[in-house]
Amino acid sequence: MDLSFDLVTALDRMLAGAAPHAGLVEPGFTPEVRPADPVHGDFQANGVLAYAKRHRQNPRALADTLVRQLGELTPLFDIAIAGPGFINFKLKPATLLAWLKAHATRDALAAGAAAAEHGHTVVVDYSSPNTAKQMHVGHLRSAVIGEAICRLLEFSGAKVIRDNHVGDWGTQFGKLLWAYKRHLDPAALARDPLEEFERLYKTGNHAAEADPAVLKEAQQELVKLQAHDPENLALWKKINDTSLAAFQQIYDQLGIRFDAMLGESFYNDRVDQIYRELMACGLAGESQGALVVFHPEHPRFKTQPFIIRKSDGAANYATNDLATILYRAEHFHATDALYVVDKRQSDHFDQLFLTAGKWFEKTDRALPRLEHLDFGTVLGENGKPLQTRSGENIRLKDLLAEAVERSYRLVSEKNPELPDSDRRAIAQIVGVGSVQYADLSQNRSSDYVFAWDKMISLDGNTAAYLLYAVARIHSIFRKLGLPPGDAAPEAGAIPFETPAELALARKLTHFPDALDLAVQQLRPHFLCTYLYELAGEFSTFYNADKVALEDAPVRARRLILCNRTRLLLETGLQLLGLRLLTKM
Ligand code: ARG
Repeated sequence: MDLSFDLVTALDRMLAGAAPHAGLVEPGFTPEVRPADPVHGDFQANGVLAYAKRHRQNPRALADTLVRQLGELTPLFDIAIAGPGFINFKLKPATLLAWLKAHATRDALAAGAAAAEHGHTVVVDYSSPNTAKQMHVGHLRSAVIGEAICRLLEFSGAKVIRDNHVGDWGTQFGKLLWAYKRHLDPAALARDPLEEFERLYKTGNHAAEADPAVLKEAQQELVKLQAHDPENLALWKKINDTSLAAFQQIYDQLGIRFDAMLGESFYNDRVDQIYRELMACGLAGESQGALVVFHPEHPRFKTQPFIIRKSDGAANYATNDLATILYRAEHFHATDALYVVDKRQSDHFDQLFLTAGKWFEKTDRALPRLEHLDFGTVLGENGKPLQTRSGENIRLKDLLAEAVERSYRLVSEKNPELPDSDRRAIAQIVGVGSVQYADLSQNRSSDYVFAWDKMISLDGNTAAYLLYAVARIHSIFRKLGLPPGDAAPEAGAIPFETPAELALARKLTHFPDALDLAVQQLRPHFLCTYLYELAGEFSTFYNADKVALEDAPVRARRLILCNRTRLLLETGLQLLGLRLLTKM
């Protein structure tokens, strides 16, 4: 029995084939299968009820006729008609076993998923911090969510291009350069260059606020930079290179490798084409010296301008983003471009996508699917955006260091006999993983409260809980003297019988549904919820049913359950961007 297919698709096909034989012939009608609440069945057929209603037939009788016409897959399921005419499919114990045997490796899981995004080239724009500043807690979400989305899409068969759209050409450079030339502290620069840049920027900013003459000088520094003055350009490059090196340390901790780092400056000499084309196709017009786009059909954007060239003649964020879309379409042949950016920028992206849509249509280009994957704010326990006690932004590197330190304490409490170097290494993975997972396990569009005690804990929906569940399965195999990936001890298994076995096996077969939901909606928290429930189901099973038995066929089937739980937890955690442990 070949079960390496996607069960939903297979059932859909079977239902579509049976429908005409059962007399369900309305044009365009096909019954449809969706994953169901597992109490009632694993899958449920939809649409028959509505069909019966439209044709004034008895829905239960119609469902009954349809079920009698079902073909090849019926032996795999217990099929029941429930309520007014729902058709429920429940995998039989032998089918559960066959599914688990067919999904023994990460590759087998990926093969099932790979159809979903096949043929897509997806540019994911994420992290994208501004240079000359440290990354702070506000930069956490884009990096963490973006990376998880890249991994989920790749697993589902897409070609993914990770593009860090660094803000390296902002107006901050005018004030920074002004201060750099007057107030640089060379010793501080040598100690911690990013810290010194930040201090200089603040100095420049204060001075410009206090004195209009300084503001003018700072603006002139920016104009000189934009005109490629060699001195300013060299300083600018030094500041950017230093920033990127510091960002890289964070990316290394989070396991992120970008394919491209095309910052805003990359698009400098590509903006003239934008002005020309948008004017030529009648989208952009002058307004108070600036070049702007209005959208007459939109309630707000008919009067709220999308500024694409400022009145001083400079390009801005919007211009760069328009040039970026063109580049991604032409150079990367992107079918999709996703922007993992704070939801407070939603107006910008709405205007950007509307403008790009009209521009591409008028110039006969194929527009990639553009989507803003928004996320909410990280809040402190007081419900306000997370900050230090003194009201400063919390630096990401300090936050990660604290997470590792707290995890070290947790690990040391749990397992004091482990050598210190092991506990340190484990704490690194648990600490960073806890921060990632706390972020990913929430619906990304909501704000969430950053609470150390909840996040670094062995109880609840946390990284530590899941990593520990994986480590526990590894220790089961270590005690039995078996390598966990080995198929030999699984031979001779007979179908599941106990309630705990059946519940766990059933939960395991729902992995593709959870993955599919996370990928379709580009929301990793669906996968988190599933992994948490799976780990809970495993615990129940392991407490109820002994694995190390004499009875070989029963032991074999229980080893399959252990091993697949390990595989799915590990695969899922990796897709979220976490690193794994075999001991904890
Ligand atoms: N640098 C911007 C910021 O810090 C985010 C850039 C997001 N990406 C984009 N293509 N606009 O707010």
